Amino acid sequence: SSSLKGKDLLTLIDFSSEEIHDVLALAAELKQKQRAGERYTPLAGKTLAMIFEKPSTRTRVSFEVGMTQLGGHSLYLNSNDLQIGRGETIADTARVLSQYVDAIMIRTFAHSKIEELAHYATIPVINGLTDDDHPCQALADLLTIYELKKKLKGIKLVYVGDGNNVAHSLMIAAAKVGMDCTIACPIGYEPKENYVKEAVKAAEQTGAAITVTHDPSEAVVGADVIYTDVWTSMGQEQESEERLSVFQPFQVNEQLVQKAKDDYIFLHCLPAHRGEEVTADVIDSAHSFVFQQAGNRLHVQKAILLSLLV
Ligand code: CP
Ligand code: NVA
Repeated sequence: SSSLKGKDLLTLIDFSSEEIHDVLALAAELKQKQRAGERYTPLAGKTLAMIFEKPSTRTRVSFEVGMTQLGGHSLYLNSNDLQIGRGETIADTARVLSQYVDAIMIRTFAHSKIEELAHYATIPVINGLTDDDHPCQALADLLTIYELKKKLKGIKLVYVGDGNNVAHSLMIAAAKVGMDCTIACPIGYEPKENYVKEAVKAAEQTGAAITVTHDPSEAVVGADVIYTDVWTSMGQEQESEERLSVFQPFQVNEQLVQKAKDDYIFLHCLPAHRGEEVTADVIDSAHSFVFQQAGNRLHVQKAILLSLLV
């Protein structure tokens, strides 16, 4: 039984460096088992409820498949089909679902909503993305970087783009494992102050350097990892035209990546928009490991499910 048993995963701010390393080690072990075709079903009889208030390909499929592989069951619940869509409160939904299932994964808008759900639920709650945080993604990113670079501490990660949920989680995750993290974003699109503060605080323990800058060309000099995400996140569709022009200088293209290390790797949480935040020649190049990264969602989430549930 793990030290994380019964806990929630709302944000990696709440996880220690050691807990993060434990999850990554377990994920690597589960990936090995999976590859060897070994049956491993410690979640037999357990059910995960998955509530989606936004679309998803990776999160939905990888959590569902992960539960199946571990011998458990999952329920896909579109919020429009739940009574939440007709005004039942989050608190009541949490108290009811706690009677039926063993954990809840939710993808929603305001981060305060998942905090409220976790407050009223008596079972673990897992963040499948909020407007502010995407911790499962960041754990998959760490596993991918570790597989490719054989270490995390001392790696230079540069995220180019919007200071959004993905940037927040990545910055926290990097700080906790001693990886340098620079966020290069347009003025007015910086990561939220509390995330920067938490990252800087964690970095004091690990020696990581946390930087926010507005100059992408300077930021990527000597980068081991270049990471980007969409310019318009889910829920921001009405801003998309403005964002398209504001973010143009932050496009990850051949010219920008020239300045990174020769063996730099490119990552993107996906879905990607070729020709916007990244050009096809970068995301489809030999430096890009975005599908290995997407694949690792399955393994880290299985590790999370196991750690929180048994
Ligand atoms: N990266 C990610 O979370 O993808 P989905 O939106 O497809 O779940
Ligand atoms: N920042 C993106 C990530 C999608 C996985 C969004 O929130 O839409």
